Amino acid sequence: MGKDVIVACDFASAAQTFAFLDRFTAEKPFVKIGMELFYAEGPDIVRRIKARGHKIFLDLKLHDIPNTVKKAMAVLSGLDVDVCNLHAAGTDAMMRAALEGLTRPDGTRPLLIAVTQLTSTDQQAMERDLWIREPIDEVVMHYAENAKAAGLDGVVCSPLEAGKVHARCGDAFLTVTPGVRFADSAVGDQKRVTTPAQAKALGSDYIVVGRPITASGDPVEAYRRCVQEFVG
Ligand code: C5P
Repeated sequence: MGKDVIVACDFASAAQTFAFLDRFTAEKPFVKIGMELFYAEGPDIVRRIKARGHKIFLDLKLHDIPNTVKKAMAVLSGLDVDVCNLHAAGTDAMMRAALEGLTRPDGTRPLLIAVTQLTSTDQQAMERDLWIREPIDEVVMHYAENAKAAGLDGVVCSPLEAGKVHARCGDAFLTVTPGVRFADSAVGDQKRVTTPAQAKALGSDYIVVGRPITASGDPVEAYRRCVQEFVG
């Protein structure tokens, strides 16, 4: 899989999502479906977007006992998503069970990537609430290495961490990176942001872009600008 731009379709309904996707007539963006849309519309939203020819990253961040995650992943695999994810904090046993559940009888499976530490978690919250006292950068790298050892395909991380993840886990280990903004657009609640061009230079494999595209007056133009900067 080469570099690509994944559009975060953070909408509350199928109607809003299709109104947005209908604007794209010349291209079929790679789409991220998150908890909001999935919980609002159920698995059918995945089938409907897939039927239109989009690749899908289903961002449900599973974290439960290994047996439950294995069975849930088998269901997601049947939905024919391209990428799905879980929390590396669920441990090696959970990640291995997830891969088993995801693998179809013919040996194929969607890509599986791990969330390390959420970007909303900072050093202080990690120490105070999670009782993890190592530097957060090291925790992120350790979780990435755990994900690699369990056989996963990559991690969700900041573009600012992509180079270090590749250095520790290899160039083939995917870095899927949110927190992307155009140089001249609003940052919103994201804290550590890069432009698509910087994300490319830092070695990100996929950028996940939401509001700079979805909230733009001209989403198609904003998407094309992202692709132009990131893929070239
Ligand atoms: O609108 P924006 O470009 O900030 O959207 C980024 C997307 O990536 C959102 O769907 C957000 O939930 C997701 N995400 C993130 N940071 C993470 C993991 C996922 O921003 N660490």
